[in-house]
Amino acid sequence: MEHRFIVVTEQETRFAELNEALQSLGVAVWLHWNTDVLAQLVGSLGSNIVFVEFSGDNTQKASELAGNLLSVYPRLWIVGFASRADNGLIIEAMRAGARDFVELQAPRDEIRRSVQHVLEQSPNLPAQSTGNMITLLGARPGVGTSTAAVHLALLLKQEVMPDEPVLLLDFGYPAGDAALYLDTKVGFNFCDAVRSLRRFDHALLNTAFAHHKSGLAILSLPHNLADLRDISPVDAMTLLSLFKSYFKVVVVDLGGFAGMDLLMYALGISDRIMLVSEQTLPSVFSARQLLQNLRERGFETERIGLLTGKYDARIDMTPEQIAQNLQLHCVDNLPQRTDKMIACANLGKPLLEVAPKDPYLEVLRGIAGSQGRLAGAGVGDSAPGPDSFLRRLFTPLLK
Ligand SMILES: Nc1ncnc2c1ncn2[C@@H]1O[C@H](COP(=O)(O)OP(=O)(O)OP(=O)(O)O)[C@@H](O)[C@H]1O
Ligand SMILES: [Mg+2]
Repeated sequence: MEHRFIVVTEQETRFAELNEALQSLGVAVWLHWNTDVLAQLVGSLGSNIVFVEFSGDNTQKASELAGNLLSVYPRLWIVGFASRADNGLIIEAMRAGARDFVELQAPRDEIRRSVQHVLEQSPNLPAQSTGNMITLLGARPGVGTSTAAVHLALLLKQEVMPDEPVLLLDFGYPAGDAALYLDTKVGFNFCDAVRSLRRFDHALLNTAFAHHKSGLAILSLPHNLADLRDISPVDAMTLLSLFKSYFKVVVVDLGGFAGMDLLMYALGISDRIMLVSEQTLPSVFSARQLLQNLRERGFETERIGLLTGKYDARIDMTPEQIAQNLQLHCVDNLPQRTDKMIACANLGKPLLEVAPKDPYLEVLRGIAGSQGRLAGAGVGDSAPGPDSFLRRLFTPLLK
């Protein structure tokens, strides 16, 4: 299990600053004040540390919140924070029960050291997460998201990290495409896993989760999407975070999944996000709409990279033009391989089995390799590299 922090502030920028400092230490979830789910979330996330912003005009509100939380969870560690603090503010926070105080203006290292100190002091903190989440979004149905996600996960498990647990989380719709592509029977779905949250452990994972013969674990949505209504959204989000503790890499196929809250949360905790779009106007148009939708919800879409699907150099519209139009950076292009894909579909086998050296796979091999290096470096504790801006800067609001 990993450290999970809750950060309570009104300001996204404050959350982003603190989150950046906390990245190497765990996953942070951002919440507004007065949210009904706050107390519930502290319980179900198993968070032992809650950061509460104490600043000029909200000191009283912050003190009340700290008091309320402590009355429910006396062992909770409240850490006050502010952009800049004076002694009065710190005393106020300590009076309200805060165990420590963090000043955002302090150098990142100092903040990290102080949180590290809190972690050492606080009771029963779960171990640190080691996993990375890489998420594929589809501009629209049929652009090749599931094929890419399946092969990326397979390459990671078979070639990059055969001894590490890798999960393919198939949120594509219709449900179960990944299992079909991999000819693997799936009897346990995402809702089952959410319902098992409180007894989640390695044994459950090994016995209940479907595994491809390569050892790749696969989890899909239920065939009847209405079942999603019966699970607790907070539990579903908690489970997603938990996956990062149990798996070295989680590949998420967010293909055509329309459940916005869960989607936002998955994006929020993803370390890397790629949007698959074809070189067609309808595809670019849908991608624009999707990105607009995400931006309206406060998501920083610059974190998303463009993966051009079914790429054909003869098409006028270049990936660079698409990327510019969508204000994304180019990750790579997946070549159009229609005949090969049809052959695979008819054989019921993944391309990796049929033609392991296919140029389509070479592109994904490059991505899997870089993901492997990222995972090998451990979550967040690697030096800031070209991927650092892809890291979690944002965790959505749970309203
Ligand atoms: N690079 C490619 N070249 C040619 N055909 C491809 C390529 N990638 C995928 N396909 C084919 O396109 C079709 C759709 O692929 P896939 O199921 O991966 O897309 P998707 O975006 O997940 O679609 P959906 O939203 O319907 O789940 C499949 O028939 C697949 O074989
Ligand atoms: Mg799909």
